Amino acid sequence: MKPTHQDSTDNVESDVDGRVRIFDTTLRDGEQAPGFSMDRRAKLRMAHALEALGVDIIEAGFPQASPDDFAAVAEIARTLKTPTIAALARCQEADIDSAGRALEGARHSRIHLFLSTSPLHREHKLGKSKQQVIDIAASAIQRAKALAHEVEFSAEDALRTEPEFLAEIFSVAVEAGASVLNAPDTVGYVTPTEITRMFTYLREHVRGADKVVFSAHCHDDLGMAVANSLAAIAAGARQVECTINGIGERAGNAALEEVVMALHTRRPLFRVDTGIVTQHLYPTSRLLAEVTGQPVPRNKAIVGDNAFAHESGIHQHGMLKHRGTYEIMRPQDVGAKTSLVLGKHSGRHALRQRLEELEYDLDEATLDAVFERFKNLTDKQRSITNDDLVALMDKHRNNH
Ligand code: KIV
Ligand code: ZN
Repeated sequence: MKPTHQDSTDNVESDVDGRVRIFDTTLRDGEQAPGFSMDRRAKLRMAHALEALGVDIIEAGFPQASPDDFAAVAEIARTLKTPTIAALARCQEADIDSAGRALEGARHSRIHLFLSTSPLHREHKLGKSKQQVIDIAASAIQRAKALAHEVEFSAEDALRTEPEFLAEIFSVAVEAGASVLNAPDTVGYVTPTEITRMFTYLREHVRGADKVVFSAHCHDDLGMAVANSLAAIAAGARQVECTINGIGERAGNAALEEVVMALHTRRPLFRVDTGIVTQHLYPTSRLLAEVTGQPVPRNKAIVGDNAFAHESGIHQHGMLKHRGTYEIMRPQDVGAKTSLVLGKHSGRHALRQRLEELEYDLDEATLDAVFERFKNLTDKQRSITNDDLVALMDKHRNNH
């Protein structure tokens, strides 16, 4: 069905405003990673959580990949109200038509086209010349334009593409009707300095650059996906493609929660906002772990169990005096909680606080004695629970 409302290409604002659009691809690039595939029901649950989280665009899947993925995209498109729903398509007629059909019920739809542009991919994957690649992209964009409210064009392996050629194909993409230009670091190869250079170059050289949104899509093969996404934003990207918990092909994609909290925590540095309801980050991360059966690593930034946990005595003492000593953001702002974990590195202050929370009335002599018992126990056990403390207090009282 051809969309009836106004053509969004004409409306896209300059890419230098202060709002970064969050494009979530957990349900597409994220689920492409081994161990993370999601069926239609799981995708629908996640899509509702992503809507509540406030993402601007949900990439719901790749409809041509399988009948279930088609059905998942169609159901998400019909059901969700606020975000734009995107579907991925190669620059091939069957893919584009299937994406268009899957998106028919969406309030706001986007076909996300991709085509390789780097010399390595042109030669070994596509076997096409530069001009052939340009022609394929232009006609795919024109076809997709008739089937969705907007079209995003991704130059696969953009960051290993000659900048002049990338600027040329992006210029043709704008002429053909794309309103979002995505420059993916498909293989997670570049550094923040290099991505800054590329986005600055593109914004200066793409014809019609002021009418479109530039987008970053970074993979984490060298552990730089988030840093690269932030560098792209600093260089004018106004859409970031990312996933919950950073899941995605190979080492993953830029983690949504990390990009968002970096922009939020260091706002004076970046001076941009997102529409993310940050208090939903932790619950959304846990929902993904539940539906995929893949636990969140303890040390994962923002949403891991250890992100706001403090065990060492020195840190716990600091935290009890002023949270800012060892926390740069408030855990409640991401929907999590601080925990002062009791273990072998913990000190008397933390033990006293926990026992007082458990409503024990402590004099110094009792604390000394219980602290000694506590230290002996921490040599045998990694962490000490409230039940362990109650047992310790009982033993102390009964003089065992
Ligand atoms: O990494 C990549 O290049 C992609 C494209 C399909 C955008 O995921
Ligand atoms: Zn990708």
